Amino acid sequence: MCGIVGYIGKQQACPILLKGLHRLEYRGYDSAGVSMINNSGELNVFKAKGKVADLEAFLADKDISGTIGIAHTRWATHGVPCQVNAHPHFSSSGILSLIHNGIIENYASLKNKLIEKGYTFASETDTEVLVQLIEYYKLKYNSDLLSAVRRALTQVIGAYAIAVIDRENPDEIIAARKSSPLAVGLGDDEYFLASDATPLVEYTHKVVYLEDGEIAVINRHNGVHFMTIQGEEVDHEVSEINLDLGAIEKGGYSHFMLKEIFEQPDCLYNCMSGRINVDGTDVRFSSITDFGDKIVNARRFIIVACGTSWHAGLIGKSLIENFCRIPVEVAYASEFRYSNPVISEGDVVIAISQSGETADTLAAIELARKNGAFVYGIVNSVGSSIARCTHAGSYIHVGPEIGVASTKAFTGQVTVLTMLALCIAKERKTITNEELEKALKELLQIPDKIREVLEQNDNIASLSRTFTYAHNFIYLGRGYNYPVALEGALKLKEISYIHAEGYPAAEMKHGPIALIDAEMPVVVVATNKALYEKILSNIQEIKARQGRVIAVVVKGDDTISKVVDYVIELPETAEFLYPLLASIPLQLLAYHIAICKGKDVDQPRNLAKSVTVE
Ligand code: G6P
Repeated sequence: MCGIVGYIGKQQACPILLKGLHRLEYRGYDSAGVSMINNSGELNVFKAKGKVADLEAFLADKDISGTIGIAHTRWATHGVPCQVNAHPHFSSSGILSLIHNGIIENYASLKNKLIEKGYTFASETDTEVLVQLIEYYKLKYNSDLLSAVRRALTQVIGAYAIAVIDRENPDEIIAARKSSPLAVGLGDDEYFLASDATPLVEYTHKVVYLEDGEIAVINRHNGVHFMTIQGEEVDHEVSEINLDLGAIEKGGYSHFMLKEIFEQPDCLYNCMSGRINVDGTDVRFSSITDFGDKIVNARRFIIVACGTSWHAGLIGKSLIENFCRIPVEVAYASEFRYSNPVISEGDVVIAISQSGETADTLAAIELARKNGAFVYGIVNSVGSSIARCTHAGSYIHVGPEIGVASTKAFTGQVTVLTMLALCIAKERKTITNEELEKALKELLQIPDKIREVLEQNDNIASLSRTFTYAHNFIYLGRGYNYPVALEGALKLKEISYIHAEGYPAAEMKHGPIALIDAEMPVVVVATNKALYEKILSNIQEIKARQGRVIAVVVKGDDTISKVVDYVIELPETAEFLYPLLASIPLQLLAYHIAICKGKDVDQPRNLAKSVTVE
């Protein structure tokens, strides 16, 4: 949510900042801006409504010179997306400019105090309050920028990653973080700042991730120093960025989302390698070796997550309950954090997050830890906040996901949950060796089976044209496939803006059936052997009301195929693995319908990839 970039060094800052903004545009893209101090000591701020490309066009005839600068791409919280509300924000006298990701919760009271002192405000944002407050302290105490920032931050309640520059000191950027991510890249006599490592990787592999309540003083001559807001020096280990540039580029695909859908066979292979042995006879997790007593003997699991990760959590519940016979609850992190959860000894909280930065999930983890739970993270983004604040965990290893609608992270999360459930079941002896081997061998075949499903891309693209003008969609599934239906509906909503709902198939008759008519497409995931007849009856009920059915079936199924309007076939696999196959055509369906409607699939309206605010 909002992307931050900063640069100080010998090169011209603006091209580096703009490239960085492009890399971070998945975080928010309703307006963007840059601020540089030029060689004459002038502090320039340029902002534009719209995408980074709109900002670039706006900059064509501007003085964008300077070797120090900060830049921002916004996802609006306070105030509509427009040029005035875009960041960077100037302080009243024009000496400071500041960018911010997060929410200043007490901005209204701080603003009133500043208004009483004669300050006026151009924007509706909480961020402008912060830059004015810093200026107020700088002028009041005639202090340097660092002291003013520290004074201001002690007054602030909320979440922030900020960077601020001062016309009176063109050699320094001050940055700080609380609950919103911030990374400092260390080059040779040049330094970078960004919300994540993707803008840094072209220039350096050395990075320091700021912790909550820390400030970075980045000085052109003296290098970087870290301290707490209270002023205590902090020593940081430098981490290595393990990221390949190719992984954050489109690589010939028209969209990141399509690339990420097609990457899934390789991603899931990477996710399994090192965990399942090559002949598929055993599965191991280092975290279970290290923390087995907590995890294997858990009395109950509580899964907390948001969005697509929450859907993966629902599949995780079925997997863990079926294989390990341990009860599992799945909670929206945003609800859990404000609940009064009953957490007892032996409870393990599993937090699932692609970005590792979701504010609600972080808060849920904090609450769980406070209540004494052991917290296990399933995260994609290496070194992210959630990865760092859990007791143990597993990365899903699917590489950076840039398309805002999650695809490969979802199947990666489900793959980790599957392996985890099998590993715990093995330790608890709730699965026999033969059953384990059979399950692992089936799992190892999933990447190739996904490849087979992807071959239907063209068919799904032509099927999508039929549904371009649909206003509503229903998705149905049962058992393991019920969360697949929810996720399929979410994908369609997110990128095509078509209203879509997912239901457990049998619930249809308790309400949604009233919506069915010739205008209503219904996607039915019908791969369940156990409940086959029942799903067939649901399909008959839809057809009896003229609904148009797209069925996802197992290859060779000619019973359902005869009844429905359109069929998408999946290779046969074990019942618990169908979510990994069935999600693929639903991702493609959403993608192609959105393309037919001319929507921006990688950056859908109003959404952001990393939701670092409540
Ligand atoms: C946002 C994204 C979703 C994602 C959700 C949870 O809404 O647009 O794709 O599923 O956040 O994010 P996380 O990074 O915690 O998985």
